[in-house]
Amino acid sequence: MTDKIQITFRDPAGQENTVSVEPRGTVMEAAVMNNVGGIIAECGGGCSCATCHVYVDPEWFAALPEPDPTESELVEFLEDARPCSRLSCQIQLVPELDGLTVQTPDQQN
Ligand code: FES
Repeated sequence: MTDKIQITFRDPAGQENTVSVEPRGTVMEAAVMNNVGGIIAECGGGCSCATCHVYVDPEWFAALPEPDPTESELVEFLEDARPCSRLSCQIQLVPELDGLTVQTPDQQN
């Protein structure tokens, strides 16, 4: 059995929801499986809808692998993108991400 890791989702009002998940799949899947609000994930993880947009806390942002060009392009077109924006379906959960904190945007475009 793999040790679970904790991922914290912060909503725009600052309310935090920490979930314990197996370190596999993606941040988006962790949100959907745990009924975390603010992540729609319309395309189911296909990197085509951008409704799984999150702001990664700065101390974690640098720890993530670089986004691939498709993700970067989608994020570029988001009106509310910030330097720490990522698509949560493209962030693979690994043991090293235990404690990762992300914030959901005011609304998904
Ligand atoms: S779920 Fe559609 S881009 Fe992430």
